[in-house]
Amino acid sequence: MLDTARWTVLAPLLQAATAGPDLLDTTIRGLTPDAVAAEVLKEIGEHEVRLDLTFDGVTTSHLRPESDLVVALDLADAVRSLYAGRPWSSLAVSTPNPEVDDNGIGGWFAARKGVPQAVQGLLSALRPAREDLGELAVELGTDKWGDLHWYTQHYERHFARLRTEPVRVLEIGIGGYDDPDRGGGSLRMWERYFRRGLVHGLDIAHKNVAGPRIMTVRGDQSDAEFLDRLGRELGPFDVVIDDGSHLNDHVRTSFHALFPHVRSGGLYVVEDLQTAYWPSWGGHPGGTDGTSIGMLKSFVDGLNHSEVGDPRGAGSDLQRTISGISFHHNIAFVEKGTNAEEGGPVFLRTLY
Ligand SMILES: C[S@@+](CC[C@H](N)C(=O)[O-])C[C@H]1O[C@@H](n2cnc3c(N)ncnc32)[C@H](O)[C@@H]1O
Repeated sequence: MLDTARWTVLAPLLQAATAGPDLLDTTIRGLTPDAVAAEVLKEIGEHEVRLDLTFDGVTTSHLRPESDLVVALDLADAVRSLYAGRPWSSLAVSTPNPEVDDNGIGGWFAARKGVPQAVQGLLSALRPAREDLGELAVELGTDKWGDLHWYTQHYERHFARLRTEPVRVLEIGIGGYDDPDRGGGSLRMWERYFRRGLVHGLDIAHKNVAGPRIMTVRGDQSDAEFLDRLGRELGPFDVVIDDGSHLNDHVRTSFHALFPHVRSGGLYVVEDLQTAYWPSWGGHPGGTDGTSIGMLKSFVDGLNHSEVGDPRGAGSDLQRTISGISFHHNIAFVEKGTNAEEGGPVFLRTLY
């Protein structure tokens, strides 16, 4: 059962976070300010501060309504700042400000102990800093950097143009295998990296991984029918990453089932291509046909199909929709786009 209603509030909100004030206000009104405030609160977590959010002249208090540390903000400002890193125009902070007594300035600071940190903690949660992907990988416990693999440098480069977009991400392989309480490091990393992203994780094992913009799905990446349904109901995706079983058959099946559900301009990433050369994983030392790397290599020829067949021919669905491929050590990025350039004139093919 796929939770298709999960993003009813977040999907339009993340789209509208960079829109002009009128469109954002209309979106918040349509979703209801209460539902929008609930999403903001899930994202920022717990703080020992009162947070006042105002929309259409109505102010509601959240977090610690009884606290005398108060951060007040327009709800639309909170949305823009949280998801799009925009500056606040409405921020007001009020903190207890005791008179200086016999204990002097040292006593005054002591009386305010913890105030700046509490307020700063909330403000930095409301406007998260831009984070380095390699550092996020290490902090959140995915092996995409610094352990077995060195992938985040390639991800930084290929994902840069998508980072601030309202992307939908699907990663096959949540991690932790049979232990429901382990894994999820990379899903948490994508949630932090893509501030406007909705992050889906697929695993054959049940997983207790949660986050404000994370959804997990249980299923088998070798089941093409299931993947097609997942793509229709939760896609289209801007990014699909295959970090699942790494069995060559599975990698090929998943690609063919899910690539049609990647949005034009999006990317399909295959990790751990070393298994393409290992026979016990369904690979071959030559990386030939039938292996995952063999499939990816065939797409290189597909890019140039119009130079071999009909120069004006449309080519197959895959040839028409793969617009670029990048290979790095053990990882490949397949770009979805229009590959419709005409081939050169046929007479040139036999000129020499
Ligand atoms: C290498 S781990 C994923 C690590 C995670 N992506 C990260 O970077 O933190 C591989 C995961 O794929 C899952 N897996 C194995 N076979 C699968 C299949 N046929 N379909 C879906 N998931 C599978 C395993 O249960 C395991 O949790």
